[in-house]
Amino acid sequence: MTAEDRGAGDGDEVVRFWEAHYGRHERVWSGRPNAVLVDIAGPLAAGRALDLGCGEGGDAVWLAGRGWHVTAVDVSVTALERAAAQATAAGVESRIHFQQHDLGRSFPAGTFDLVSAQYLQSPVALPRDHVLRRAAGAVAAGGLLLVVEHGSVPSWARKPDSHARFPTPERALATLELELGAWETERLGAPERQSTGPDGQLGTIRDTVIALRRRAG
Ligand SMILES: C[S@@+](CC[C@H](N)C(=O)[O-])C[C@H]1O[C@@H](n2cnc3c(N)ncnc32)[C@H](O)[C@@H]1O
Repeated sequence: MTAEDRGAGDGDEVVRFWEAHYGRHERVWSGRPNAVLVDIAGPLAAGRALDLGCGEGGDAVWLAGRGWHVTAVDVSVTALERAAAQATAAGVESRIHFQQHDLGRSFPAGTFDLVSAQYLQSPVALPRDHVLRRAAGAVAAGGLLLVVEHGSVPSWARKPDSHARFPTPERALATLELELGAWETERLGAPERQSTGPDGQLGTIRDTVIALRRRAG
C-alpha cells in the first residue's frame, strides 16, 4: 500500500508536511503550466475549471489567461498565497477563486467543464481514489476529467525505484471505479517527456495520463 492509498489521516500532518515543503524555498515550481494540460486543454473553449492541488498556480493562471473561470484548491496556504500573487501579477485574479481544502476531508462545491488533477500526489496521507472519484463527480455533462500522475522515476535518478510503484494507465483508471459507459476515453497512456534533474542533468520521465469526457446524454 502506498501513502496515496491511505485514508485521510491526520489533517494536521498533511498541512504540516506541505507547509514545510513550500516553506523551504521561496518558489518550488517553475510557474509554467504543465505540458499535458497545455496540450489537452489548449484547444478547448473556456468554461469553468477546477484545479486540484494547484500548488503555486502555474496551471490556474494559464487557464485564467485563456478565459477560464478557475477554482484552484490546495491544502497549503503558502502555496495558495503564492498562486494568488502570481494571478495578480498576470492580471487574472478576478477569474480565479482560491480555496483551501484538505481534499481527503472536504471538496469544493459545484460542477466544472474541466477538472484537472496534475501530480496530485503526496508522501503523506491522501486518499487518492476517493479524491479522484469526487473529482469525476464534479465534471459537468460534456466536461473533461484530466488526471496526470508520475508514471516513472526520471532517467537521471541515481537509484531508480522499482517500476512496480507505478501502475499502468489502465490500472490507474480502473482504481477509480468509474461507470465507464458514462465516459469517453480521450487519452489513456504513459507518454515520455524531457526532465531536468536538480543538478541540470537532462533525461526523460513518464507521466500517466487519463483524460475522460463525460458523455452529455
Ligand atoms: C506534487 S504537487 C503538484 C502541484 C501542481 N499541481 C503542479 O503540477 O505543479 C502536489 C500538490 O498537491 C497539494 N496537496 C497534497 N495533498 C493535498 C490534499 N490532501 N489536499 C489538497 N491539496 C493537497 C500539495 O500542497 C501540492 O501543492
